[in-house]
Amino acid sequence: MKELFLLGAVFLAVGFFHIGTASAAKCPRVMVLATGGTIAGREIPAAGRTGYKAGVLSVQDLIADVPELREIADVTGEQLCNIDSKDMTDEIWLRLAARVNEIFAADAADAVVIPHGTDTMEETAYFLSLTVKSDKPVVLTGAMRPATAADADGFENLLDAVRVSASGDAVGKGVLVVMNGEIHEARDVTKIHTQNLAAFASPTTGCLGTVKNGIPAFSRAPLRRPKSEALFDLGDVSALPRVDILYGHEGDDGALAFAAEKAGAKGLVYAGMGNGSIPAEAEKALAQVAGRGVIVVRASRSSGGEVTSSVPSSDEAGFIESGALNPQKARVLLRLCLTKTTDAAEIARTFAACR
Ligand code: SIN
Repeated sequence: MKELFLLGAVFLAVGFFHIGTASAAKCPRVMVLATGGTIAGREIPAAGRTGYKAGVLSVQDLIADVPELREIADVTGEQLCNIDSKDMTDEIWLRLAARVNEIFAADAADAVVIPHGTDTMEETAYFLSLTVKSDKPVVLTGAMRPATAADADGFENLLDAVRVSASGDAVGKGVLVVMNGEIHEARDVTKIHTQNLAAFASPTTGCLGTVKNGIPAFSRAPLRRPKSEALFDLGDVSALPRVDILYGHEGDDGALAFAAEKAGAKGLVYAGMGNGSIPAEAEKALAQVAGRGVIVVRASRSSGGEVTSSVPSSDEAGFIESGALNPQKARVLLRLCLTKTTDAAEIARTFAACR
């Protein structure tokens, strides 16, 4: 009798162990790799509605403030930095890409969610989309209101980002931005509003999907996502070459192209008018610096549409079209290209594969 009882107890214990591991195995492991931003911001008393300090709360605070996260995933946190994203640096970008690659290579998580300031979120997302070598989900999110505000949007955005990252549907979709109930691809998304909660859009392609009532739903896949061979290996890269953005305007005489060259720019992105058009004097100046080896990319100051080859004089000068990449994304890609080569034809081929 005593033996039977002991046997039963052993069966029960083994059963519980299996149930425990089975459910743990199903629960996706999501690493929250925090970088700061308004989502980690705190209001400054008496500083008015828009007065607050970004990058104050820790990753532990962020996770503790959203207990529902535990129902979705096995969430762990790590603080990479805690900054206002206007102060993003190359050093942090390189460290962030290396850390995400390391987490996936060590199989330390099934997905990474990155709380980030909204101001440069699109650039960081695109940088990671070109440098993270994994099909596992990487999702950036943020907030337009600090965590202490009555209408704080960061809690729901973090929850949605974890929901998307933990849904099997996000696997193989590249780096995503989840904000205000929408899922965007890193390549297409941009910040379109200075204040609204609906601050992000993908003007040329539309978003990839939505999160409604807590349920992520993709309506399309990012078919232009760079193939793994187009991704950049940052192994021995410790600095990114200088690339400046010049903003086109009436009467541009091109003086800033020479100033940028003098400052050490190895590449220039010209945010031109419409389909990347460049005023004649500025085009002459850019052709001169291109002749001395500076790579010039034509992008557009218009918020939607693609920049195509349409201007013979720009083509003759060897300028590269940015395609669907806005100026800040074209700058990210050009800097990464310049870590590998200064050959304009090779860089043009990489742009053709990514834009
Ligand atoms: C920031 O980009 O860090 C501040 C602004 C924001 O997160 O909305």
